[in-house]
Amino acid sequence: MLLEDTIQVQAGGWARGYPIRVGNGIRRSLPSLISGHVKAHRYAVMADEQVAALYGREISEGLNRGGKKASLFTFPPGEGSKTREEWARLTDAMLEAGFGRDCAVVAVGGGVTGDLAGFVAATFMRGVPFVQVPTSLVAMIDSSVGGKAGVDVPSGKNLVGAFHPPRLVVVDPEVAVTLPRSERAQGLAEAVKHGAILDPVYLADLETNIPCVMNGEVGATGRVVVRSIEIKAGVVSKDERESGLRKILNFGHTLGHAVETAADYALPHGTCVALGMVLEARGGEKLGITRKGTSETLARMVGLLELPTEVPLGLDPQRVLKLTHSDERGRKGRPRYVLLAQLGKVAPSDDWGQDVPDEIVMEILQESSGRFSGRSDSSVARA
Ligand SMILES: NC(=O)c1ccc[n+]([C@@H]2O[C@H](COP(=O)([O-])OP(=O)(O)OC[C@H]3O[C@@H](n4cnc5c(N)ncnc54)[C@H](O)[C@@H]3O)[C@@H](O)[C@H]2O)c1
Ligand SMILES: [Zn+2]
Repeated sequence: MLLEDTIQVQAGGWARGYPIRVGNGIRRSLPSLISGHVKAHRYAVMADEQVAALYGREISEGLNRGGKKASLFTFPPGEGSKTREEWARLTDAMLEAGFGRDCAVVAVGGGVTGDLAGFVAATFMRGVPFVQVPTSLVAMIDSSVGGKAGVDVPSGKNLVGAFHPPRLVVVDPEVAVTLPRSERAQGLAEAVKHGAILDPVYLADLETNIPCVMNGEVGATGRVVVRSIEIKAGVVSKDERESGLRKILNFGHTLGHAVETAADYALPHGTCVALGMVLEARGGEKLGITRKGTSETLARMVGLLELPTEVPLGLDPQRVLKLTHSDERGRKGRPRYVLLAQLGKVAPSDDWGQDVPDEIVMEILQESSGRFSGRSDSSVARA
């Protein structure tokens, strides 16, 4: 094993802490690793059909060979499975298979699987132990750190869920080799955010490493995954319930979410956050809060991710602005923005969020969509 690291997520007042074990090939040691953290009679391994074929079946069989009684539960890949209906189907299937309160749930997959299986674990028999084996970069870097689980409902994404921290997270960067290039970019967008809010050295390293990770190099992927997990784990360890510090993780997300909603979710989350970071940095520069040139560096990095750096054609700036006001993160109707002081440092404010006047936001959106329409190579559908 070339890379071996353990990052500890500290307990909040109400929840226990847990280790995140990172290592090339470490998924094969899951049976013995689990023994140290979970005592269960049966294991419900959950994976979408795509990941089940690649790793889920192998992991479930490995557990059985290691003397742990495991069964594999699958569902179709994609956000469309993160629903109450799928949660009901999975919990019913577990009951039918005779699972009781002495079981544990093991999620093998991307963020959809982690959120869905985590919500199953949080609710089955009022909560059973949960283990995560994230396989997408989004899941390794972001969704498997922090304990949030849940499903989408007709009113919006992630609106029904629970905090249910895992007992153990096992990250094997090797599995990212089968991940499509465009999915790698989705996870790396959040990695750029981690560098931008807290670590200028990491951000500079990322500029060199992004092309390697995009090309699926295992070594570079492992280094990026470890540093990003350290940063996110450090933040959530200090603030498990998202009251104060954790808000800095929302950099790029106020405008990112508005763009995501305005595009009716035709653009993936990481794409929207990448664009959101560039736009919010431009806003900070206009206000004299963010050091000049910051947005340009971020745009260069977003370009390396092969993602758009301007508001795509067909998105109405007025609608995007309006949607910033309906974001759940807003306070009493006023959207809050995490602004950078400079690369690697968030500008201080009372609760890590700032007000940005609507006129400034509108100006940034209009200037950006103007720049985009100057290009002829893309639109919302192709971005
Ligand atoms: N809980 C949190 O804190 C949190 C944070 C960020 C995102 N999320 C959630 O995560 C979800 C997005 O996660 P995602 O991007 O991983 O989506 P995903 O789980 O749908 O995975 C993306 C695609 O990649 C495939 N895949 C995953 N790993 C693979 C591998 N190693 N090789 C080949 N294919 C692989 C999957 O089958 C799927 O088709 C969203 O629902 C989002 O709300 C949650
Ligand atoms: Zn995000």
